[in-house]
Amino acid sequence: VELFLDPRDGRGMTVQLYDQIRNAITNGRLAPGDRLAPTRTVARELGVSRSTVTSAYSRLTAEGFVEGRSGGGTVVVPGPTPGAPRSEVRLSLVPTERAARIRRYGEDPEAQATFDLSPGRTDPRLFPTAAWRRCTVRALSAAPAQYGDPAGSAALRLSVARWVTRSRGVTAGPDEVLVTSGAGHAIDVLARVLLRPGDVAAVEEPGYPPVTELLRSHGVTVVGVPVDDQGIVVDAIPSDARLVYVTPSHQYPLGTVMSRDRRLQLLAWAGRHESAIVEDDYDSEFRYTARPLEPLHRLDRDGRVIYVGTFSKTLSPAVRTGFAVVCAALMPTVRAVRQAVDWGPPAVASAAMAAFIDEGHLAAHLRRARKAYRARHDLLRRSLRRLDRSDLTLLPSQAGLHVTVLSPATPPDRELARRMSRLDLLVGSLGLTYQFGPATPGLVVGFGGIRTERVPAAVARLVALLD
Ligand SMILES: Cc1ncc(COP(=O)(O)O)c(C=O)c1O
Repeated sequence: VELFLDPRDGRGMTVQLYDQIRNAITNGRLAPGDRLAPTRTVARELGVSRSTVTSAYSRLTAEGFVEGRSGGGTVVVPGPTPGAPRSEVRLSLVPTERAARIRRYGEDPEAQATFDLSPGRTDPRLFPTAAWRRCTVRALSAAPAQYGDPAGSAALRLSVARWVTRSRGVTAGPDEVLVTSGAGHAIDVLARVLLRPGDVAAVEEPGYPPVTELLRSHGVTVVGVPVDDQGIVVDAIPSDARLVYVTPSHQYPLGTVMSRDRRLQLLAWAGRHESAIVEDDYDSEFRYTARPLEPLHRLDRDGRVIYVGTFSKTLSPAVRTGFAVVCAALMPTVRAVRQAVDWGPPAVASAAMAAFIDEGHLAAHLRRARKAYRARHDLLRRSLRRLDRSDLTLLPSQAGLHVTVLSPATPPDRELARRMSRLDLLVGSLGLTYQFGPATPGLVVGFGGIRTERVPAAVARLVALLD
């Protein structure tokens, strides 16, 4: 821990040192077993006498926070206090009511289990480590030393523009691309540019909770609009919605593909109501059945659709890279707003990603990953169907890395979590994706993170979870 001394602090140097180290121990920044820096080093760094430091250490020893080791050195001892709130610091800062109402989606994204069916995971065994490493090492050796373009480096914007044109038929030039830290971040920048506090935005119900919470964090009133077997029910969108957020290629979480008629209806609606459409195309690169329908962005003649993509599925959520295709007229404002928030994407990661796309590694990875995920998707569907349970309805799935199952037997979320940990199993709750009204109970079954050979056993555990 960093130690600081304030000569104007009337408590004296020893007490200041003692207080800071004690705080670090009680709030967990120093853990049991951690070694305190030698008294000689601390004294030199802080410009105080060694006896000042020794006195602070002696008091901590006497009070049982640390102990001297026979070989020399002073270490933190296990005690009941680490992690406890710093009782000596008043809670002067409180979040606003708006911020305090924001809910996390999934409590523990780092949770691990042998049978991992949580949505939002990709297979680490498929990650193209060797190619990624080569691209990253090269990017490191050319690390730039200045701030970059808030919309992303010219090289990466060009790579993404070419990529999205080739892979999804979304015609985009580099001057229309905003590179972000994932799809959610792209929507954050767009919300800052397009929405005012108090504006209404429409999202799908059920839907993707992080986007709802993000819009709420900007003071936007978010309305949930039902989804039927053709996609969002356009007639149910409130007429004052300034922005409509949809997942047309693969509705999250139900998996519905928005029909062409519905796409045209939505575009016409947006034209009449002068509203923006955010098309989140988060996982359609993995497609298992019918040919994909044209993205809304391609059908849009009016410049109302902003296309949002991500590498969270095509590569990994850990690379935290996504993008938006935004009409060029908005880009000066988008750049200024983005710069105000975090200036722009990290340069080294951007250079690595650009090389990764340009040299064909992303396309090669997708060819391999598609094959593996298709086999896993088919096996999962077969295993679920074979259960032949009347209380399970397996929804159709044509794309992505999850399938959705309706099941009235799904226990409430807290009980679900308890049973999961007993069964060494992780799976998503459908109920959590309903944010505006009564939830349909069920499971969002991700297959990105599980080994293919474990799928049948994982499905057996799903049965145990429900029974
Ligand atoms: C609907 C939807 N959009 C976007 C994402 C990915 O977001 P990000 O790019 O921020 O990781 C996900 C991830 O599961 C998703 O379900």
